[in-house]
Amino acid sequence: MSPFSIRPVAGRIGAEISGVHLDGELPADTVALIRSALLDHKVLFFRAQDHLDTDSQVAFARLLGDPTEAHPTVPALAGNTHILDLDYSDGQKVDRWHTDVTFVDRPPLASVLRAVTVPPSGGDTLWANTVTAYEHLPAELRDLLDRLRAVHTNQYDYVRIAASDDPERTRAQAEVFTSTLFETEHPVVRVHPETGERAILLGDFAKRLVGLPAQSSAAIIQLIQSHVTQVENTVRWRWSPGDVAVWDNRATQHRVVHDFGDQPRRLHRVTIAGDIPVGVDG
Ligand code: SIN
Repeated sequence: MSPFSIRPVAGRIGAEISGVHLDGELPADTVALIRSALLDHKVLFFRAQDHLDTDSQVAFARLLGDPTEAHPTVPALAGNTHILDLDYSDGQKVDRWHTDVTFVDRPPLASVLRAVTVPPSGGDTLWANTVTAYEHLPAELRDLLDRLRAVHTNQYDYVRIAASDDPERTRAQAEVFTSTLFETEHPVVRVHPETGERAILLGDFAKRLVGLPAQSSAAIIQLIQSHVTQVENTVRWRWSPGDVAVWDNRATQHRVVHDFGDQPRRLHRVTIAGDIPVGVDG
């Protein structure tokens, strides 16, 4: 009997998979089970994958699709063009709810995140299910969102950055992040290309709603973001070194909990190429 088991972690999102030794050579039926569990649970957790290194992490990610370059503007980890080095001891502070890289026309399909160094306490990651968020909205709001489009950009809001622990260091990182400016439009509700589910596509890179006055646009984005991220709609993962999380970037938002002060925290992320989000009207 296969040791593979799937255990939901929270009510609406997240499952832990045990009995799998991740690498780039998994049997086709195991890959099919992982893909299917990802569509069902939106984020999957694999504990104690300490054997993985950067190359085998990318090899595993390749079983789910085509790994992209590490990031559109942030340089990759030396030696592997697909690895984004999330080294928070470097002052990185990506602590706002977001879906990865939505400021490009084709945001990633999925991300594979591996814990390298974790603080003794704190530094958890939260994910929110953007499909159940949509489903729990009143019909009138769903109808409104179905018709809206949002502008997504990587342009940082320097006023918000100035409030962080080390504004100078964060400003230097923001300069790298915005070294090329991207801006694109996506439907606020995307139809998931594999499940057909409707998912809210906003997050921190969504700066305004097309055709609405700035104040209404900001108020609607804030209202929907607080709905997406309400605790019942989330899962929280307490990392141990070697843990791997895989999420469906078409159906989730996530954020780190920045409660670990100066303690080291380092994770390596690989993203898988995605497609152009399609709205409810095609
Ligand atoms: C990310 O934003 O992709 C990484 C989240 C984390 O470091 O927990």
